[in-house]
Amino acid sequence: MSADARKTAEGLSYLSGFGNEHSSEAVPGALPEGRNSPQRAPLGLYAEQLSGSAFTEPRAHNRRSWLYRIRPSAQHPAFTRTGNGAIRTAPFTETVPDPNRLRWNPLPDPAPGTDFLAGLWTLGGNGDATQRAGMAVHLYHANASMERVFSDADGELLIVPERGGLLLRTEFGMLHVEPGHIALIPRGVRFRVELLDDSARGYVCENYGAPFQLPDLGPIGANGLANARDFKAPVAAYEETEGPVEVVNKFCGNLWTATYGHSPLDVVAWHGNHVPYVYDLRRFNVIGTISYDHPDPSIFTVLTSPSDTPGLAGVDFVVFAPRWLVGEDTFRPPYFHRNVMSEYMGLVEGAYDAKAEGFVPGGGSLHNMMSAHGPDRETFDRASAAELKPQKIDDGLAFMFETRWPVTLTPQAAGAEHLQRRYDDVWDGLERHFRPLR
Ligand SMILES: [Fe+2]
Repeated sequence: MSADARKTAEGLSYLSGFGNEHSSEAVPGALPEGRNSPQRAPLGLYAEQLSGSAFTEPRAHNRRSWLYRIRPSAQHPAFTRTGNGAIRTAPFTETVPDPNRLRWNPLPDPAPGTDFLAGLWTLGGNGDATQRAGMAVHLYHANASMERVFSDADGELLIVPERGGLLLRTEFGMLHVEPGHIALIPRGVRFRVELLDDSARGYVCENYGAPFQLPDLGPIGANGLANARDFKAPVAAYEETEGPVEVVNKFCGNLWTATYGHSPLDVVAWHGNHVPYVYDLRRFNVIGTISYDHPDPSIFTVLTSPSDTPGLAGVDFVVFAPRWLVGEDTFRPPYFHRNVMSEYMGLVEGAYDAKAEGFVPGGGSLHNMMSAHGPDRETFDRASAAELKPQKIDDGLAFMFETRWPVTLTPQAAGAEHLQRRYDDVWDGLERHFRPLR
């Protein structure tokens, strides 16, 4: 099954560009010309709008798509509550917010038959999903493809695979996502995750706030960081499955289930800008110093979810991609710092240049608001004495979910077996070097 699925995934084609008004039809003539909701949609399809922003939000922030589908989404039986598994939602109030530096090893292996949804495990988050503000950090570890279909009314899902390829079958078509890529499923879009390998592991940022967008570039100019054309939307593809299909809906923190008599992935054509997409992080155009010091890590922002305060993100997705370091008279690894923003970091592959050990692919660290962190002793000693030749950092891919509010843990994260108990020790051996002049 997996080999067949990978073959399907490799054959996919995509539409290019971020936030564009894309359109796609799986059957010629399925997309109406000149109007969104004609008296009779082409080919006997139903026309339906999916709004990701309020109708009246400014054009630059307005997100919506028109879907032309075999059956309208409205045709479904009542949803009933089902178990939330290890998924938790803001407001997070079950533990006391923790000022300590925290670090976790990867999630343990799941039980056989764990699909993506069952394998989602919430670390923590902030804000309030019902207020459409804040975010949650989840990890996933799955070993079975989903047969059910999922949608999240609480937020968009930024998926960061760390191990194992995924085929995302969405209402808009299919996306092929491998470690090193990210995928985004907009709020409310239905999808199913199929595994392309025996297991899959990774991270998810559930963003309750404004949809992720590309950051402004200011003096950088018209190009650089993540380029709009490298974001790929799927082409339309639909399922005609008749018979029972379980659909799970996450709504205000709880999972609800209904059994449909058909697949809800039955969109034959669509147009709009509220669409899923995939992005290859290796396409990120890394910008850094060519003189001295290095810019703040905001220079590595791939996507940002703006708040009502200019420049203050609800959450930023930041990548530490392969890059050259050339700064003269500069401590080149990330400097010691305390940050009003809270930082959850994960590692997709390799190593991260501020830590000699302990921060491993599939694991993660949390440095909450104003917690002091930075290089460990080994990294500090090495970087302070290094000969400053041009140096390529090309053995790692780390990322950060950086958010405006502290991340409060779930009890399962606070008490996890895989929480490292002695993370503070990495800074313990930093020696006193101060020698006042006499
Ligand atoms: Fe930091």
